[in-house]
This record gives sequence, C-alpha cells and structure tokens, in this order.
Amino acid sequence: MSRLPLILSDLKRRLSGVSRLRQYMLDSPLPVTPQMSDLERIFWSTDGNVVHKWLHYLPLYERYLARYRGTKVRMLEIGVYKGGSLHLWREYLGPQAVIYGIDINPDCAAFDGIDGQVRIGSQADAAFLAGVIREMGGVDVVLDDGSHMGRHIRASLDTLFPLLADDGLYLIEDVHTAYSRRYDGRFSRHNFMRLLGRLTDDMHHWYHSAGQRIAATADHLIGLHIHDSLVVLEKGRKEKPAHIQVGREDGRKPAAAGPRKEAEAQP
Ligand SMILES: C[S@@+](CC[C@H](N)C(=O)[O-])C[C@H]1O[C@@H](n2cnc3c(N)ncnc32)[C@H](O)[C@@H]1O
Repeated sequence: MSRLPLILSDLKRRLSGVSRLRQYMLDSPLPVTPQMSDLERIFWSTDGNVVHKWLHYLPLYERYLARYRGTKVRMLEIGVYKGGSLHLWREYLGPQAVIYGIDINPDCAAFDGIDGQVRIGSQADAAFLAGVIREMGGVDVVLDDGSHMGRHIRASLDTLFPLLADDGLYLIEDVHTAYSRRYDGRFSRHNFMRLLGRLTDDMHHWYHSAGQRIAATADHLIGLHIHDSLVVLEKGRKEKPAHIQVGREDGRKPAAAGPRKEAEAQP
C-alpha cells in the first residue's frame, strides 16, 4: 500500500497547526435529555473528576456492558487518570460490581477506595497484573485505556486474556493511536493494527496452515469486534466450526400430502 496519502495528510495537519486530537474536541458538554441512555446520562452529568471518552464509545459500552449491570461483575480498567471513569463504571454497573483501576502514575493512588480500588504499577508488568487479578478474585471485563503503546497493549493482553473469565470481554480503547509514531504506530512492528491482523488470522486458523501465533488468545477468541478506535475481544471456548447443507438442490418443496379421506381409506 502506498504511504503517500498518510505522509500528505500528516503534512497538511502540521501546516494547519491543529493537533490531530483537538480537531475532534467539542467546545461544550451536551445537555442531558430524556432520550439519552443511562450511560450517556451518567457521563454528561459528571461534575466531579475528569473522565475522558470519545462520544461514540458510550452506546458501544451499553451494547457490551449492559448485561453486567446490577451484578457482581469484576472489572479492571487500565488507566485511572483523574478517577472519573471509575466513577462512571460505579454509577453504571452498581454497588455490587468489583471495580479496580491500575495506573503507572503514583498520584492515582489518591482515587483508591472512592469508586473502586486503585493499584499502582505498569500494564506491562505481568507479575503486577496477575497479583491484581488474584486480589480481585478473577476478572470478567478488562478495559485497556492505558498508555496506548502497541507493545504495552500486547503485554497486558498476553497476561490478562488467559486470566479472563471464560465468557469475559476484553476492550481496548483509542486504537487510532496505531496511526501515530508516538504510540508504536505507523510502521512499528508493535503497531496494534498488525496484532489485530494476527488475531483475525488466528481466529480463522482452521482455514490456513500458519497455526495460531498469539498464544494468549489461542482457542479462546470467539469474537473480534472492530469499531472506530474501540476493539472488543470476546472470550469463549472455540469449537471447530461445522457446516451442513439443508433443503433441496432444486429449491422445490416436496408435494404436500393432502389429508387422508376416511372414505377412500376404508375398503
Ligand atoms: C487516557 S488516560 C486514562 C483515562 C481514564 N481511563 C478515563 O477514561 O478518564 C491514560 C492513563 O494511563 C496511564 N498509563 C500510562 N502508561 C501506563 C502504563 N504503562 N501502565 C499503566 N498505566 C499507564 C497514565 O498515567 C494515564 O493516567
């Protein structure tokens, strides 16, 4: 694929002086309306700690997380920042949910015990992650909103996907960062989009001879949902696919047998 369009769009942005993120920023919050979903209402009513989300994520979260509302779901968010998203999850999922956040920034410890538990460490540290999951008693939902570096996303996935509950969900946010050099993007071998390609190949390993290359998800990735900037991996026991043909080649139904007439049936 030609790199020219990417190089030209980069150049245009640099010359215009507008950062890539700023051009998508709304000037002011939307007013809360009765038509909004619960999660949107909670999000737009936030007047405490900052929570930073792309707007189109909100209905997607509803789609994937609604089934966990009011349950004892165990959720881990990578990236606490100002603690606002932990508040969002607490309000949305309810008091029974076990909500943990991790962050590399020690200042985030200030949010421990408010809407969930906060532990300080790196998402690339396998022993640290395993310890947090032990403390949580397992995990049903992981949301990676951490460094967005391709190599960190991969490291967390390698550790956490095997620890995820059998029917768990693994969400990765802001994957558009894969188009930026700063985040192991563009032509880096750690580019997340390359990982996505491998996951797709692995999920279809029945149909080619390369085998499964990502050990962490092998035999357990039953769905890979790619939305704009948000990717959702669905965990389950992957069964060998089977297909069958039913119906008739000529498409015609067999002639219907009419009701038996008693009189004819009698001698
Ligand atoms: C985008 S912010 C999180 C935003 C928050 N989830 C929200 O929705 O408001 C990213 C966070 O990831 C943290 N972070 C960066 N590198 C990390 C790493 N290697 N491990 C864990 N957290 C990291 C940063 O300190 C920052 O607080």
